[in-house]
Amino acid sequence: MRDLEASGMPQFEGDVNLSPERAAWQREHLNAETRALLEEDARYFLHQSLSSPCLNVLAACEGSFLVDTQGRRYLDFHGNNVHQIGFGHPKVREAVAAAMAQLPFCTRRYTNRYAIDLARKLATISPGNLNKCLFAPGGAEAISMAVKLARMATGRFKTISLWDSFHGATLDTISLGGEALFRSGIGPLMPGAEHVPPPEPQRCPFGCGRSCTMKCADYVEYVLEREGDVAAVVAETVRSTGTIPPQDYWRRIRSICDRRSVLLILDEIPHGLGRTGSMFTCEYYGIVPDMLVIGKGLGGGSLPIAALLAREDLDVGRQHAVGHFTHEKNPVLCAAALATIEVIESEGLARRAAELGARFLDRLRDLQMRHSIIDDVRGLGLLAALTLRRSDGSPAEAEAEHIMYAALGRGLSFKTSMGNVIVLTPPLTIEERDLNSATEILDACFTGL
Ligand SMILES: Cc1ncc(COP(=O)(O)O)c(C=O)c1O
Repeated sequence: MRDLEASGMPQFEGDVNLSPERAAWQREHLNAETRALLEEDARYFLHQSLSSPCLNVLAACEGSFLVDTQGRRYLDFHGNNVHQIGFGHPKVREAVAAAMAQLPFCTRRYTNRYAIDLARKLATISPGNLNKCLFAPGGAEAISMAVKLARMATGRFKTISLWDSFHGATLDTISLGGEALFRSGIGPLMPGAEHVPPPEPQRCPFGCGRSCTMKCADYVEYVLEREGDVAAVVAETVRSTGTIPPQDYWRRIRSICDRRSVLLILDEIPHGLGRTGSMFTCEYYGIVPDMLVIGKGLGGGSLPIAALLAREDLDVGRQHAVGHFTHEKNPVLCAAALATIEVIESEGLARRAAELGARFLDRLRDLQMRHSIIDDVRGLGLLAALTLRRSDGSPAEAEAEHIMYAALGRGLSFKTSMGNVIVLTPPLTIEERDLNSATEILDACFTGL
């Protein structure tokens, strides 16, 4: 067996699971029983970056809250982005229980009412003619299906995706993704997966600075022209790092793809289904991709289901296996997804995200006025991000981590990204008073920095 450290493979310093700050938090907050459970977890699970060793042990979650085994409640502003409708929504519980009682599984070659209803619903609510779909047990698999279908439809195999992006942790999706943590030290990746810079003004290699001049969009056209045989551009419409491209960016990429006959695949796995203020984020941009991938929250904050939505004329995989997943028409998963969409619609959660999100961003901008370390506040709907920088302009990574654990100690859970970005993604069902108490917690943490 190879010793990772001795092998010279990269050890990622950014792994918050290994930091002294985290160890200090655990020492202060966890009792002997919780520690024993964490040790047992570490004893039986294979270790992996970003997931282990674990931070704490959960006993329950409901609505916007997590509850740990010591009975502490945390507002969950991360939720792995599965919790658009909060945890344990009664409509999802009911739908899952009914499907479970009636038809717990659907053997391949058969179909069922739950899967058909979900497929019809997705065709109805999706923009343009994204009327065909396939389901998968996770986002990475759904992205994988999209790329396979793009290859089948175009007869080409190359993809253009963005540096720093994330599309899943399988071997093919890490090839599309642009984060070193996932790509490095794992050997050859999928051939033909080319990358271009993301629309991220503050780290723009074209020197855009604070405002985007969209040279990066023009560069996509340059690469498509030079490569010549690209099947698809694959990208997240917006990113959890608070990367919200200007509206013209996606319009320009859409028209470049049209001009070059390249398919556009948008990944809205974490932020589709209402979070950004419309059911699908591409609607905010006024464009329709050729394929749209959703997942995470589709399972109602509980179950694993993702979907590839494709243009009707891309139904070209008849002679191939596009997905072929055991759970591709699982009635229980489909029932959960259908109930989730119905909740988002009936509770007007997309509009709620837009309205609450605007007020939340205002409050975060107030925080920025009071705490100079907050360099930037970005967001769309209930996806918000604070970038922290020191007065010398350097990224305030240690400070971001400190704020994260200080907030956790006060009952607010969230994640940092890229080291110095605090990402805040509450459920869309959150009570406004809870949203406000989160900003108060943040305020107190920044004051104590
Ligand atoms: C943008 C994006 N794409 C794809 C995925 C992969 O989804 P899954 O973890 O369900 O495979 C994720 C997961 O975090 C994601 O954030």
